[in-house]
Amino acid sequence: MAKVKVRAIVLAAGKGTRMKSATAKVLHELCGRPMLWYVLQALRAAGVEDITVVTNPELQGRIGEFGVTGVLQEEQLGTGHAVRIALAAMPAANSGRVLVAYADMPLVREEIFAAALAALDDSTALALVTARVRLPSNFGRIVRRDGGVERIVEVRDATSAELAIDEVNAGIYAFDEAALRDAVARLRNENAQKEYYLTDSVADLVRSGKRVAPIETPDAMHVLGINDRAELALARREMNIRLCAQHMRDGVTIVNPLSTSLEPELQIGRDTIIYPNSSIGRLSKIGERCAIGPNARLSNVRLGNDVTVFESTVFDSSAGDRTSIGPYAHIRNDSQLGEDVRIGNFVEVKNSRLARGVKASHLTYLGDAEIGEETNIGAGTITCNYDGKRKNKTKIGRDVMIGSNTSLIAPITIGDGALTGAGSVVTKDVPPGQRVAGNPAKPLPNK
Ligand code: UD1
Ligand code: CA
Repeated sequence: MAKVKVRAIVLAAGKGTRMKSATAKVLHELCGRPMLWYVLQALRAAGVEDITVVTNPELQGRIGEFGVTGVLQEEQLGTGHAVRIALAAMPAANSGRVLVAYADMPLVREEIFAAALAALDDSTALALVTARVRLPSNFGRIVRRDGGVERIVEVRDATSAELAIDEVNAGIYAFDEAALRDAVARLRNENAQKEYYLTDSVADLVRSGKRVAPIETPDAMHVLGINDRAELALARREMNIRLCAQHMRDGVTIVNPLSTSLEPELQIGRDTIIYPNSSIGRLSKIGERCAIGPNARLSNVRLGNDVTVFESTVFDSSAGDRTSIGPYAHIRNDSQLGEDVRIGNFVEVKNSRLARGVKASHLTYLGDAEIGEETNIGAGTITCNYDGKRKNKTKIGRDVMIGSNTSLIAPITIGDGALTGAGSVVTKDVPPGQRVAGNPAKPLPNK
């Protein structure tokens, strides 16, 4: 049998009123990624090749970032109406299968999508994911007859007997495409909300003699729909625990997962320890046996092996093996620290390259600087990189001794093996091996 492409429709056009936000609901983030991102990720992992997202005007402009086709639903007339619009934009495929999912369910695992697809055999028109939840609940209820699924009733249309049903519609559907097209075309909006409900397609399919197969998901938490920021926080906690658990299984020690914030797509090496109140994000890559935290903030970093980041912030930067940062340091803006570098307390490094063995142990600002191997930067050193108009470069050679409280007025070059005396204000280039001191710094007589 020829492999049939699996396609998905993701509904994301709802107004999201309960978020009380100027941002589209599904763009709100948990663990550093928008809700929508997780849904798309899980669908792709389940083998879906082609995804159409139904958007509203706030979302449509950003949909390109997600690598999917966006179809605008101008007026939110219900989930059935949204699917109708998506289908109209999708060329009909012979004997195709279509997954329908809601974009406000970031915790859905790929396994649930895969199970729904697997349950859709030739005799089935719809595999419907259901869950058991504690009542009361806002989920649509599954009404059964003679054991089989007969229809779904939405809460606003339900009788009190129906509201007592604890088997609910999770909001994940694997449809035979032809059956879906037929059913959606026949939907009416005769209900409490005057909306076209996708859920009414269940009764329609059953009436026309088609089979609807329920698939119960084992954990209702996985199908949590995010409607407000309290539910967003709940989902975030769950997602963060999943991310931490994955790294712990892969050999990373996380002392307190509840106070550690991770994002998807991180690489963390074995035997690295993450101490409490730390966060790591944005595609960071961390080597083996590192010690991160407590109170570390890392975003878009690349760290070698045996690196220490203690009570410090590192953004968009890298550090080589055995380098040690902190406490209370700030490394940022494409800084590259080599191996065996030592950055101590109250040191800021911005857009600078520090070669192997450089030490800046106390109270220093290094901005737009290039520093050679084994150079020592004394306490209180400042690269005065900004002249009010431009950011200027400081170049310091290897084996240089920069004395405490040196001000280096950039642009400036300090040669290999040079020395500046404590309190120097260096305004002119210093040749290799030269010793200077004073304000403005002048050459010292040779010893
Ligand atoms: C829906 C289901 C309900 C199910 C629940 C699971 C329907 C009618 N009801 O209810 O049975 O238990 O999800 O969470 O489907 N959307 C659009 N366009 C619209 C309306 C909605 O794109 O015109 C999108 C929303 O952005 C959202 C999704 O569809 O992502 C679900 O809509 P929502 O209004 O949240 O449905 P629920 O009331 O939660
Ligand atoms: Ca919802």
